[in-house]
Amino acid sequence: MLSKLLPLSLLLFLPLSMANTECIWVIGRVTCTFNQTKVVDTRIEVWDKDGPKTPRVKTDVILRLIDRVDPDDKAGVTIVEDETGLFKVEGCASDQDWLFRKNQPEFYLKIFHRCTPNGEEKCYDILPPVKVFVPNTYDKYMNDPIELSLLVR
Ligand SMILES: *[C@@H]1O[C@H](CO)[C@@H](O)[C@H](O)[C@H]1NC(C)=O
Repeated sequence: MLSKLLPLSLLLFLPLSMANTECIWVIGRVTCTFNQTKVVDTRIEVWDKDGPKTPRVKTDVILRLIDRVDPDDKAGVTIVEDETGLFKVEGCASDQDWLFRKNQPEFYLKIFHRCTPNGEEKCYDILPPVKVFVPNTYDKYMNDPIELSLLVR
């Protein structure tokens, strides 16, 4: 009886071990309206949001536990080199499927900049996660640049 069940259970567990690898290419521009020089050295990182994709409920202990063992991963980084504010960043991530749900990487940008009146460094996450994968390029921020002075908390 057990030996007959074994192949079936192997099949059932196969999707558990599958991972999806996806990459993202982002090109764009950052601006700092009150002083464009301040875009230089802006650091743009690509992160992959890990963990289950269900809504975060405060009382859901298991989801929070999974979040803790599978924190977000940094997938790529670039530094803005000059006052054009142009940047190009790429990153790849491979996420494990949780149970039978397909778990595509959910990329988002983390931006470290000094476009602040006193030059203090600010960090800001750009959400929602981008869902455009290689071979396509996410180029929204070429024509619609990221204004850094708005990215403060
Ligand atoms: C603009 O920012 C740069 C770099 O922080 C600084 O050297 C320069 O003095 C600033 N210019 C103005 C007009 O504030």
